[in-house]
This record gives sequence, structure tokens and C-alpha cells, in this order.
Amino acid sequence: MVEIGADGRTWLLSGPTSSYGLRLGDEDELLHLHWGPRIALADAEALAAGPGPEYWAFEATLDGHEEYPVEGGPRFVRPALSVRTPERRGTEWRFEGYGTGGAEGTEGAAGAGDDELRLRFSDSGLGITLHYRMRAGSDVVERWVTLANEGPALEVLRADSATWTLPLRDGWRLSQLHGRWAAESRLTRSDLTYGEKVIGSRRGHTGHQHLPWVALDADGTATEELGEVYGCALAWSGSWRIAVAQLPDARVQITGGAGYDDSGLLRLEPGEGFVTPVFAGLWSDGGFGGASRAWHAYQREHVIPDADRYRPVLYNSWEATEFDISEEQQRALARRAAEAGIELFVVDDGWFGARTSDRAGLGDWTPNRDRFPGGLKPLADHVHGLGMQFGIWVEPEMVNQDSDLYRAHPDWVQFQPGRRRTELRNQLVLNLAREDVQEYLWERLDTLLSGAPVDYVKWDFNRAFTDAGWPGEAYPQRLWVDHVHALYRLLDRLRAAHPGVAFESCSGGGGRIDLGIMSRTDQVWTSDNTDPLDRLAIQHGYSQVHPARAMAAWVTDSPNTQLNGRVSSLRFRFVSAMAGVLGVGGDLTRWSGEELAEARTWVELYKEIRPVVQGGDLYRLRAPEGGLSAVQYVRGDEAVVLAWLQAQHHGEPVPPLRLRGLDPTASYECLETREVHRGAVLLHHGLRTGLRGDLDATVVRLRRK
Ligand code: DGJ
Repeated sequence: MVEIGADGRTWLLSGPTSSYGLRLGDEDELLHLHWGPRIALADAEALAAGPGPEYWAFEATLDGHEEYPVEGGPRFVRPALSVRTPERRGTEWRFEGYGTGGAEGTEGAAGAGDDELRLRFSDSGLGITLHYRMRAGSDVVERWVTLANEGPALEVLRADSATWTLPLRDGWRLSQLHGRWAAESRLTRSDLTYGEKVIGSRRGHTGHQHLPWVALDADGTATEELGEVYGCALAWSGSWRIAVAQLPDARVQITGGAGYDDSGLLRLEPGEGFVTPVFAGLWSDGGFGGASRAWHAYQREHVIPDADRYRPVLYNSWEATEFDISEEQQRALARRAAEAGIELFVVDDGWFGARTSDRAGLGDWTPNRDRFPGGLKPLADHVHGLGMQFGIWVEPEMVNQDSDLYRAHPDWVQFQPGRRRTELRNQLVLNLAREDVQEYLWERLDTLLSGAPVDYVKWDFNRAFTDAGWPGEAYPQRLWVDHVHALYRLLDRLRAAHPGVAFESCSGGGGRIDLGIMSRTDQVWTSDNTDPLDRLAIQHGYSQVHPARAMAAWVTDSPNTQLNGRVSSLRFRFVSAMAGVLGVGGDLTRWSGEELAEARTWVELYKEIRPVVQGGDLYRLRAPEGGLSAVQYVRGDEAVVLAWLQAQHHGEPVPPLRLRGLDPTASYECLETREVHRGAVLLHHGLRTGLRGDLDATVVRLRRK
């Protein structure tokens, strides 16, 4: 709901539990009013009528109060918008008007019941529109900015999507998700201090190093289930930056958008425009858990395509075979996968071109005839015959120098004349900003998806940008931004042309997880780290913002061959992977009949609990910090608890799990033991798991009676 004050200069957006308010000051400066619990328009008007910011000669009156601080004039905060022409730098904007509702000028389609507010400003021919949208039934505020240049050419040095302002409190604690390859999404919390904390990626993709998300709670008072939490997440899959600033008067602002540096995002010629990605914000008073559930619901309802269609259990051959693949071996794996009850069989890297190692073949998206003499169709038919869907791996944005594509088009990669072309994993990045490259990829991928009955595409991206140059193109180059737009367009076009095909976003594991890619893919590969214990911490971090519905997780071999050699039971590996979209990635040809039969039982159990895991509300009962950890999913009358015991120590009894989200007045039957528990007892005294020893795990299903 968008409400407008009587003077037409105060606006209030409200969701089910929260409101967001702003107003125009006397000199058309756009000031923040409120972000927090739901308030009435009269409250917003009272705030607007209250005293404005205080004046001090050595401070900027506007700093910490503006909705979108532009560069120029009496402001010392980091500008959200910075533009320059040959004559001058900065913006002196005038308010032009506002609009509400409708889809005019929006980014992404607005649905019925969504509410949007648009505020239009201009400066010397540059139109600047700030967009605010709350989706029906959600407390997430989506913000973005459109620039339309009707004046002379200018350079956009920086165009953030939004600046978020927090209420004045004594202090703030910052939560973030940091990491590296095979150790993504590590949750860390620290007190905010004066100055700026900047996270981001200057790598051309979202990066393993930080998820584009932050959360802040006042004075470090929020717990998992209680307290106010503010969160922001950026919908962008290229380089990005989020800066959290505590200003001299202790106010906190968070500004974020595409691009890492302020040195040049793009150039706008007369008549050109730019739409920033969405930077979404959420206030919740349900603690970190409540905030996560609201983010998850928002993504399931408004971001992830067809999120109500549950993801199948997949098999992926990468850890089992790496590059050493053949049709016969894939058929053998497929037969084993079908025996285990798997629903989707995915051939990973190595099926195309001269791709027998990571040194060759990327770019040549035709089946390797030595390995697949009849192309992919015979294998796809075999897999379908076994009752499974068929999927393939691709890495379209990349090329090996040893490939027909590179030999034919050495200028199709990102490079700077006279400079070394840096190879990482022996590959170069294609310049997706080029239309010929876009057309080539469209034609190859469309042909591929039309030539064999493919149901699923795992879309990988295995190196960062290092030589992002485009000879002949003036700086600042659009390449960084256009690469992401071209990727999005390609995915959109493929999805439209092949509506039955599902896509997975992968970037060497979790290097491309963000709201932008998630709006175009059906699931994400969370990490190349498939060790079931390490995974618990990665999944804990991921779950702060993203839902289980999109979180792919595989059961692989023990000892863990990829990383740490850890030995763990099938039980522990399965229960760890069942917390998301279950997959299997071990070498099934080496699994014993007993192991396969056990796997089948777990897969069957997963299919039963899938609607609750993939569609339910997540409660993190205990964090994976050693000892006992557990998550619970609740959907309607059903609840599922997954619990893991890392190590049991004598004299330290394993505590019962206090459950959440149940009706205290109801009774719940445990489908494992047939015991009936009272809701109030489960909530206040807890559920005994019976876990013991090291690396033990369990699944408990509860149904309301
Ligand atoms: C990185 C991915 O994360 C792996 O799962 C696998 O697909 C390899 N790339 C293949 O090269």
C-alpha cells in the first residue's frame, strides 16, 4: 500500500508488518522518515512535521538523512549517484513529480497487488527516477533507480540502487556472509564502528568472497527468534559494492549497487538510459530467524521462477568422474542412479568439443564424438527410459585458447591490446557485451537444447574478470555491466524458448548466488565443498537470506575425495544434503548393493518431506558451532526436524531440541516412533533426538493430529 500525505510531499509504503516513509524537504531534498514497524500515514506526517536535521558549520545537514545522496553541494557522505560531463561533476536535481501503482518504467514485472512509488527528478537533461516497490504480502522493499539522459553525453561514475537509512540507536551490529572457494557463506557478526565497512566484488561475478547481503541489529540485541533486524540484498550478478557507514552523529546508512569502484560505471549518450539492479531491504522484528523466513517467502513468491514446483532429486557425475567420461560409463551411472530413486541425471563437464581436461574445448558446444558417438540424444533417451530427466553442464561465458571458437575468433574475449591475456583455469572470458558473441551463444545453446531432449542446464562460471577490455570502446566501458545484462537476456531468451528446461546457477560452487541470478534460475550450486560437516556451516550462512528451495546439496563419497578426506556415514551425508534440494554426486558404480539400498530409502524419505523442506518455513534451532545443530521446517500441519551431532563428549548430555512454529495447544505425532507429543511440551521442553557418538544425524517428521 502506498499512502500520500495531504501536502503531496510525504509518502508511506506499508507491507503486512512494516512501513517505509519519506518526504520532500523545503528545497526538494528527499529525506528519509521511517523504516520499521507498520505506522499510519498520520504518524508519517507527524514525523515529517517534526524538527529537521540540525545545522552545524562543519557537518552537512543532509548527511545521514537523505534517501539517495547525490554527489555535489553540502554533502560529505559517499554519494549514491556520481556523474560528470567535461564541464562539471555532481548533480543538482529538481523534483519533477511522482507516480504510484502500475508497471510503467519498472524493472521486472509488477504483479497484482504490488505497490510502487516513483519519484522523478532531473538535472540538466538527466532524468533520475527513484523506484520503491513492495510486493503483495511481503515486507521487502525493492528499490532501484532509472537514469534517462536527454542532455549532453555524460559519464556515470557511480549509480547505486539505493541508500538505506537506519533509525538512530546507540550502536549497531553487522552480520555478513564472507568466504572463499569451497568455504562460502560463512556467517560473521561484528560491532559496527565509526567509518565505513565495504564489501563487494571487483571480479565481474558475484563472488565466493561475500554474498551481496548485510543485516544489522541495534546494539547487538537480536537473537535467532527475537528482536529487530534490518537486512539488504542486492539483485546483481556482476561486480558490486555495499558500503555500511556509521556517520559522525552515529547514524547508519547502507548504500549499494552495481560496480565496485567509483571510477566509471558507464557512459550515457544523449537518448540513452540505465536501470540499476534492485537493492531490496527488509525490516523484521522476528530476530534473525524471522528475517530469514521473510526473505525466503519473498524469494519463493516473487523471485525464483515457479518456486511452487519442487525440485527433483538429481545425480551429478562430476565428483565421480571429473573429465574422464564416456557414454557407456554415464549409462552405467544412470542405471545406478535410477535404482537409487533419483529423478534427474546430469552429465557434468567433459561431454563436448576436445574437453578431456580443463585445457581445451570450452566454447565448442557440440558433443565430443569419441565420447558420445551419436551425440547426446542416445544418452538422453536412455536416461528418460530409466524414468529420469536429463541434464547437461555448460559454461557459455568462457573459452579455452585450445578451442575452435577461439581459433576462429580470438578477438571475442575480454582483452586489452598489447597486454597479456590472463588465463585462470586455462580459460578466458568471452566478451558478452559483443552482439556477435551473444548471437553465437544463443544459436549454440538453442541448437543444443533443441537437438537432444534436455530438461536441465547447469550453467557454470569458473573464473573472474582480469582483463576486462574491449578494444575500440571508449572508457568507461559498458562491458562490466553489459556482460551481466547479456547473461540475463540470454537466460531469459532460453527460458522463453525452452520453457520445460530448468537452470542451475553455478560458479565454481557458490560464486554466483544473488537475487538477480535467482530470478532466472531454478536452483543454485551452493558450494563445491560437499563434505557434509563443512556444509552445515555453509548452509547455515546461505539460509540467512536464501531459501532451501534453491539450495542444491549433494551426497558424495566417503572418505570425501574432493577436499578433506573426512569419513562419514551415508546417514550423516544424506541428512546434511536433505536440508536443501537433495542431490547425489558420489561414484555410484562403487557403492555396494547395501549402500544403494540405503540411499534409496533416504531418497524416498526426502521425497516425502520435500514439500515441507522446499516450501516450508525454516527455523534454525541450533547453529552448527560444534556439538548439536538442527533445523526445522514447518508447513501447515507438518514439521520436519533435521539434526546433526558433530561429536559427543562424556558428561555433556545431548540437549533436547526446543522446536518452533508449532501450535502449543495441538498434539503432534512423530512418524518415526508413532509417539504423540504435545505442542507445548515440544516448544518449551523440547524433543529428544537420541543422537549419540560422532557425526550422527536424524530426521524427525511430525504431523499435527
Ligand atoms: C565447477 C563446479 O562447481 C563443479 O561442480 C563442476 O561442474 C566443475 N566446475 C566442472 O568443471
